[in-house]
Amino acid sequence: MNAELLLMFALSCDRAYLFAHSDRELTKQEQSRYDNALAERSRGVPAQYITGHQEFWGMDLIVTPAVLIPRPETEHVIETVLELVTSDLGPQPSAKRSPEVRGLKSKVRIVDVGTGSGCIALALAKELPDAEIHAIDISPAALEIARANAARHQLEHRVHFHQSDLLTGVRGEFDFVVSNPPYVGESEEDSVQLEVRKFEPRNAVFAGRTGTEVIACLIPQARTIVRPGGWLIMEISGTIAEEVSKLLVGWEEVQIRRDLQRIPRVAAAKKPKT
Ligand SMILES: C[S@@+](CC[C@H](N)C(=O)[O-])C[C@H]1O[C@@H](n2cnc3c(N)ncnc32)[C@H](O)[C@@H]1O
Repeated sequence: MNAELLLMFALSCDRAYLFAHSDRELTKQEQSRYDNALAERSRGVPAQYITGHQEFWGMDLIVTPAVLIPRPETEHVIETVLELVTSDLGPQPSAKRSPEVRGLKSKVRIVDVGTGSGCIALALAKELPDAEIHAIDISPAALEIARANAARHQLEHRVHFHQSDLLTGVRGEFDFVVSNPPYVGESEEDSVQLEVRKFEPRNAVFAGRTGTEVIACLIPQARTIVRPGGWLIMEISGTIAEEVSKLLVGWEEVQIRRDLQRIPRVAAAKKPKT
């Protein structure tokens, strides 16, 4: 798959072209582009950093070593938000919703903490055309990529980007705080794929010794800005699921949802109404 992907990159073509012209000889220039890409890949650089692209939620996103490569598991975060927005609205299909109910949800306010490439904020902006979406990162270099991705998908007027250390710079009341925070513990470093350790941004992956350090700061901060009845939704891993559940004491309807491999992947919790 990597060879195919890098050849598509070297030839600037799609998979169909590759198979339709499998007997075509590469030009010298194409061969050298492909050789360079293979050399990078063989020293461990993830294919996405070589091609500069990764698909997420049906969107082609630009990625550089300044941002984490969006993972398919993170799409469960999007599914969870969409399900909870919809369940707040009740079971009717959108065409049958009264204008008042649609109007109510048009004010849904979401903040994505640790936006990286912008994948979560942009997928939600695409799915919820009336929502007000804010996206935060501590890294200016990541925010630059997220902004470029917003422009690439004509969503730059829909997402407000801010540089902030978690929610410290954020004011106002939100319906959803959503985050795929750094959650790998430094004590697990040896079990993390070498490619991730060597090439993905360290502050996007590692959170401290146990992996729950960033989440432990985020939960009380989210509590102050989520409206009563609003939700905190975070991507997690199986290693920290139990600890995260404990940290969510005092929240309601705490759910730990599993990914397709049955690994705990999303924690969702509702702020009590009173
Ligand atoms: C696991 S990555 C997630 C990126 C993207 N949301 C995704 O799902 O692919 C975590 C992101 O959080 C950012 N981050 C780390 N510490 C932060 C902090 N204290 N405040 C804000 N953002 C932070 C990193 O720069 C990184 O972009």
